[in-house]
Amino acid sequence: MAMVSTYCPQFTGLRRSCSKLETSSPSQSFSQHVTCHLRLFSSRKPSRSVVAMASNNKFFVGGNWKCNGTKDSITKLVSDLNSAKLEADVDVVVSPPFVYIDQVKNSLTDRIEISAQNSWVGKGGAFTGEISVEQLKDIGCKWVILGHSERRHVIGEDDQFIGKKAAYALSEGLGVIACIGEKLEEREAGKTFDVCFEQLKAFADAVPSWENIVIAYEPVWAIGTGKVATPQQAQEVHAAVRDWLKSNISPEVASATRIIYGGSVNGGNCAELAKQEDIDGFLVGGASLKGPEFATIINSVTSKKVAA
Ligand code: PGA
Repeated sequence: MAMVSTYCPQFTGLRRSCSKLETSSPSQSFSQHVTCHLRLFSSRKPSRSVVAMASNNKFFVGGNWKCNGTKDSITKLVSDLNSAKLEADVDVVVSPPFVYIDQVKNSLTDRIEISAQNSWVGKGGAFTGEISVEQLKDIGCKWVILGHSERRHVIGEDDQFIGKKAAYALSEGLGVIACIGEKLEEREAGKTFDVCFEQLKAFADAVPSWENIVIAYEPVWAIGTGKVATPQQAQEVHAAVRDWLKSNISPEVASATRIIYGGSVNGGNCAELAKQEDIDGFLVGGASLKGPEFATIINSVTSKKVAA
């Protein structure tokens, strides 16, 4: 990997060139896929196989605060984030509960953007208990998390509904953190790729463009459990997701789209995960509620630079 820096001395997000990858079909078996990926990876020539990505393709770290916090605890968290020293080449987003977005927007440094944790599927109106994309924009949100496993599996949102939400949010100018990921029984049944590709397809069928989408791969068994995916497990799925984008959308989209990992990321495991070639950042739950630890995770981009 050291050879990469010869070609891209400035870190802007380094990727292999997807155009050099063979096409893999969604039905390709996991082992076939990984073998193919590893073979290509090891046989590539440095001058042809590594590209510097567009300048907007930075490491991306999101903090998903979920349904946690009080005015007081959020005041403390914001103050810790404001005083943290953050690496410059990382896009950072936090996602407070709706009722605290305004407080956070008014007190948090502009260095960090704000995301909502959900949005209504269309224009606002007579939809009791919902929050519209227009309202989120009005209070300064730039992003929304959609398809999170807690909304899929606890609240019961399905692929099509999530796809429509994504399309509407994008049409109104919000960025979308599009979550996908398999349950433990699906992984154990060898269906990890099938599940992820099906969820991706529902987004792909609904959205007109991938320009403002970050994909979050979050295996359900790793969320809030303390059971993080190994760097290899995460990398395998991230590489497969990128290949799916290449085959089903375009090589350009595959190269430009950030694929971030979520599920029990913390200050201790982020550096090893960040070193993986196809891990472009993190979506962090529990550890994002602690300012200094969240800063450590953001700054794990430095281990990516070393790896490159
Ligand atoms: P966790 O949550 O980091 O607490 O596992 C991640 C997420 O749900 O986005």
